Amino acid sequence: MSATIARAAFRVRASAARSRAKVRTAWWQARGMQIGPGTLLPKIRAIWPHQVSLGANCRLEHDIFFKFDGIYRPGPSLLIRDRVFLGFGCEFNFRRGIEIGADCLIASGCKFIDHDHGSSRRDVPINEQTDGREAEIVLGSDVWLGANVIVLKGAQIGRGAIVAAGAVVTGSIPEYEIWGGIPARRIGTRP
Ligand SMILES: CC(C)(COP(=O)(O)OP(=O)(O)OC[C@H]1O[C@@H](n2cnc3c(N)ncnc32)[C@H](O)[C@@H]1OP(=O)(O)O)[C@@H](O)C(=O)NCCC(=O)NCCS
Repeated sequence: MSATIARAAFRVRASAARSRAKVRTAWWQARGMQIGPGTLLPKIRAIWPHQVSLGANCRLEHDIFFKFDGIYRPGPSLLIRDRVFLGFGCEFNFRRGIEIGADCLIASGCKFIDHDHGSSRRDVPINEQTDGREAEIVLGSDVWLGANVIVLKGAQIGRGAIVAAGAVVTGSIPEYEIWGGIPARRIGTRP
């Protein structure tokens, strides 16, 4: 295939993909998801779409799971601000609330879980205990999470911080610091 034909085929495919994404985005909006201008959705999954708010000009890769893990209540409880990138296979598993600041880069496979199962009694299976703790997760703007980072209940990550690939974040990370490991600890500071 000549380069000209390959380029034309690429343009046709890209245009068709964009049209499909526009239809998909309108469908999720009709189901209650708030989606800012310039944000187009690839194939995603969402339980209770009205719990999800996506800002303007966000870029999402496919197979992201927005899982509101509670009974129906008004939303949104997941706020993703403008120009956020969400990589392939990220999961937002939330009951209380999660906020992702503007311009954050969330690499593939990251997970955010803002609640635990209850486990205070031994005579009742964990899956029947309802006293699990939950606390909001908040990321400031311009945070970069490397691949497969897990962010747990109550985590607060300051503006401009970097979290190394594979870390588990359980507490607070100050602005512009670099953290990594399990549980995440400070491994550096940005210039
Ligand atoms: C956090 C990161 C940016 C740091 O990169 P860097 O500045 O080049 O850091 P270095 O490789 O020099 O490592 C600095 C220290 O952090 C440690 N470190 C680096 N990555 C780590 C990780 N993922 N987990 C735990 N510790 C890590 C190093 O072992 C080193 O420790 P030492 O000083 O005791 O030897 C990089 O390691 C990283 O995780 N990048 C994420 C890449 C990614 O997932 N991209 C997805 C596409 S957006």
